[in-house]
Parts: sequence; structure tokens; C-alpha cells
Amino acid sequence: MADPKRTKVVVALPLERSLLDQLAEYDVTVVPAGRPEDGTLETALTEAAGLLVNSHVSVDRGVIGSAPRLRVISTMSVGVDHIDLDAARERGITVTITPVLSDAVADLAMALMIMLSRRIPEGMRAVASGRWTGVPLGGDLSGKELLLVGFGRIGQAVAQRALAAGMRVRYVDTRSGLPGCAGVDRIDGLSEGLRDADFVSLHVDLNAGTRDLMSREQFRAMKPSAFFVNTSRGGVVDQEALTWALTEGEIAGAGLDVLENEPPDPDEPLLRMTNVIVVPHIGSATTETRGAMARCAVDNLLMCLRSTGDPYVVS
Ligand code: DGY
Repeated sequence: MADPKRTKVVVALPLERSLLDQLAEYDVTVVPAGRPEDGTLETALTEAAGLLVNSHVSVDRGVIGSAPRLRVISTMSVGVDHIDLDAARERGITVTITPVLSDAVADLAMALMIMLSRRIPEGMRAVASGRWTGVPLGGDLSGKELLLVGFGRIGQAVAQRALAAGMRVRYVDTRSGLPGCAGVDRIDGLSEGLRDADFVSLHVDLNAGTRDLMSREQFRAMKPSAFFVNTSRGGVVDQEALTWALTEGEIAGAGLDVLENEPPDPDEPLLRMTNVIVVPHIGSATTETRGAMARCAVDNLLMCLRSTGDPYVVS
């Protein structure tokens, strides 16, 4: 039987054996991945000091309330919209993230831009249906303007790639003190940026200030030839407005790694639109990046429990 004096840790994500072994000095309870509705997580948390989750586990006020001894929530994600940060803050619980996925997400944002502009899905559909010719011409990235909405780690990684592809890059971000990036211009107004951009790519967190940031007015401001890419969170976009913009030709197409509801309703109209590419939230889904995220999440947890080192704490 576990020593009741040992510090308790709850692991609510799939973790490989070698990483679980790093937690051996603690009394570890592994609960099923996801967010079971049967109270398993809450029961496991009754005496826990540490919690390890990913973005599929909702850590709401109720969950936090069930964990009176909780000191740290380590999430294997960079987004924290699944955690009630106010509730955590009120209780003095540290929340940590794994910002080691920028290159993987930036690669995917670029892939979506290239697929849209080069009409790759149409080419694939043509070949699959036995046609080799007749796909309309695509467009170059080189010489086109990219607006990055958000210029944190991921936005900056996209900027590097876009500059290498010969694009003009501008960004909007409400934060001050961001590092400069040669060849990238900061602009103040989202509307101005949307008006001029050939590609718009979102790289902001989902929070009260960014929910539905892209709605009808913003899509209307974009060029009819422009492409929209979202690898951040579905909630940053008013999905009904995006569907309207794509249907009415307000924009040319969209590449989406995230949706308002995941998985989406099978009747979701965006899934059937020929000018839309939807992939299932795979921004960080490479072997290397997911491995690095898991190691980072465990390291963060251990550093917080031991009060050592420099974990990636959400400010
Ligand atoms: C993240 O880390 O936030 C990715 O989107 C996976 O959830």
C-alpha cells in the first residue's frame, strides 16, 4: 500500500514508462486520459499536490475545488484555455506549460498556406478521380503579404519560414516588449493588416480578449483572394462568420487545425467546403515534439514540487 505521507501526484494523460519512472518518489495515481464524467479525476485529486494534464482534460473550478492540497497543474500544452486560471490563481496554484512546439506548429501553418495557394487538395482530388489535367493554376507565396495575428514564439517561427519563402511579413499583437525580427513590421491595427494581407495566420491564446476575434467584420475586411489559417484555437474565430465569409467569397479559402468543437459535429458545414482544409488539431503532432512536450511537462511538475529550477510558469 502507498505510504500516505508521500506527496500525491495525479497523471491524467498517457505517459511513457520512463517518464512515469521519473515520478517514482511520489505516490502516483494514473487516471484515464480525457475527462471522465464519473468523478474519477476529482476523487484522485482529493489529496494530490501535483496534476499532470493535456489540453483534453478540462481543469475547471469544480476540479480545482476538489483538490484542496493542489500546488501545481502541469499541462502538456502551450494553450491553457482548458484550465480555469482565475480559480488556480485564487488558490495560489502554479500552472506550467510546454512551449517547445513552435517549430512543429509553424511548419503546419506554412503547410496549410502552401496547400491552399497551390491548390493541393484539388490536385489530389483530381488524381483520385482519374484526372491528370484541368486543375486551375495556384499562386506563389513569394511576393505575397502575410499578416500574423500574434507574435509570440509560434508567430515568430512562422515569420522566419515566411521570410525564407520570400513573403512580406507584418504582425499585430497587443503585447509590448516582443523581440524585433528583421524584415517583419509591427502594425497597430488589425483592420489595416487584414485589408492588405494575402494570408492571415492566427497565433494568439484563447482568452476573454481573443474569443471571436475574427468575426464577420474582420472577414469582410480581408481581400476576396486572401487565405485564412488557424492553428491556434477554434474559439478565436466566430465559426459561423467564417463559414459565411467562405460561402460568400469574402475570402478565398481557409486552412484549419482547430475548430470551435473538437471533434466537430459530422454535419459541420466547413468539413464539406472545397475551399477549406481541416486537419484534426495536429499542430504539435510529431514524434519529436510530443516527446519534448511530455519531458517538459514532467520536468515542470518536478521543479514545482521540489521548488527548484526554472519551470515554464504561466504568468
Ligand atoms: C497546445 O499545446 O496548445 C496545442 O494546441 C495542443 O493542444
